[in-house]
Amino acid sequence: MTVTIVGAQLGDEGKGGIVDLYCDEADVVARYQGGDNAGHTVVEDGTEYKLSLVPSGAVRGKVGVLGNGCVVNPATLFDEIDDLRERGLDPDVRVARRAHVILPYHRVLDGIEEEIKSESDQEVGTTGRGIGPTYEDKAGRRGVRVGDLLEPDVLRERLKYAVPQKRALVEDVYGLDVADLDAPEAFDIDAVFEQYREFGRRLDDQDMTVNAGSFLTDAIEEEESVMLEGAQGTIIDIDHGNYPYVTSSNPTAGGAATGTGLSPGVVGGGEVIGIVKAYLTRVGSGPMPTELGGVVGDTPGYDEQGEGENEELATYIREEGGEYGTVTGRPRRVGWLDMPMLRHAARTSGFTGLAVNHIDVLSGLDEVKVGHSYDLEGEETFSMPATTEHWRRCEPNFRSFDGWPDVDWSSVAADGYDAIPDGAQTYLEYVSDELDTPVYAVGVGADRDETVVVEEPF
Ligand code: IMP
Repeated sequence: MTVTIVGAQLGDEGKGGIVDLYCDEADVVARYQGGDNAGHTVVEDGTEYKLSLVPSGAVRGKVGVLGNGCVVNPATLFDEIDDLRERGLDPDVRVARRAHVILPYHRVLDGIEEEIKSESDQEVGTTGRGIGPTYEDKAGRRGVRVGDLLEPDVLRERLKYAVPQKRALVEDVYGLDVADLDAPEAFDIDAVFEQYREFGRRLDDQDMTVNAGSFLTDAIEEEESVMLEGAQGTIIDIDHGNYPYVTSSNPTAGGAATGTGLSPGVVGGGEVIGIVKAYLTRVGSGPMPTELGGVVGDTPGYDEQGEGENEELATYIREEGGEYGTVTGRPRRVGWLDMPMLRHAARTSGFTGLAVNHIDVLSGLDEVKVGHSYDLEGEETFSMPATTEHWRRCEPNFRSFDGWPDVDWSSVAADGYDAIPDGAQTYLEYVSDELDTPVYAVGVGADRDETVVVEEPF
């Protein structure tokens, strides 16, 4: 069977921790979209592993697969594998031959496009990892796939077609001189070929490439348990998120089928767990109706640090929750839980269970709020509107909950759900009722042991 892990919000919901918690019972952990824009933190015995590409399960000795829906930067992949090896682990990672490869020019183009968009306040606030440009080339049928790295002639042919186009884009469209860029070699066919051919050799020597669909289907036919690990979150899904402030892939459950080659029936026949942070954070620009305070440079129209109760609260939650980007180190924007967003996420992915993280972070507050619905042009609405322009105009209608005390959360995790303070239980039950989905797990701290497990999905 499969268990699919989906971020219900804007990413950074703590998916890595839940994958890590449940993957004991899994044989294989596969990622189905995204690339090294993800940041998964796994903590084991106080040791922290920060992964951006290698599936979290690799820390636990599971077979990790990067599915065809992923975009793979081989330099990051090998850096992470080497780092884990230096730390005494032996990660077993397989990469789909159909997955697309992030090339050096993709990163450069990501930076240039953001820079140009920022002149008219239209930047997305990307992670700068070349994700968008790589998926663009995939859709434009000019990408390089992992399988191509193993075939020198094919690799060279693909680069001979793509690189001059990228050079022309930089020079003729963006009006820049390639020679003046920080990495002009990113636009040199021979330099890129040599570097990527070497990656191909290593992938081949270590027998790391697979036909992901058949590899995973075989695993399921042999009664193995497969975890499908989503990165990012529903509201930055290219189809179901707040376009254009999105990533370029499908973090929602449908992506787990197209991004692995498993059939939708297999994915839908398993469990789909929505990961929810007990409040909301956002990296980068775009609307955020329940935002408290703001982050200069990311919150639209917010040019200098403000003051006041909400600002203090945002700073408090940011510090308590360690809300700084795993990949970029940027401070995250902070807001109250947004229920219309969660209703949209639950519908899109068909959650069978929820994991609600970070309820410890909110402890000690007198009052905890949630955006229960929105007011959009005089009408109450309970789900997210389809356009970002409408979403931007939504005013949240808040509901207020009594806060809960700070307690010894490790003991709570050991004692189980009933040990969770009453106020927090009321909050969790509200979320569960509104989404008509049971709570499977409650995160009460960063360590793996600091999770209240209500249901084991495998
Ligand atoms: P990209 O994925 O680098 O193209 O960035 C597109 C948008 O997705 C930006 O707003 C990023 O901040 C956001 N994003 C990408 N990856 C993550 C993530 O892992 N967590 C949270 N936001 C992300």
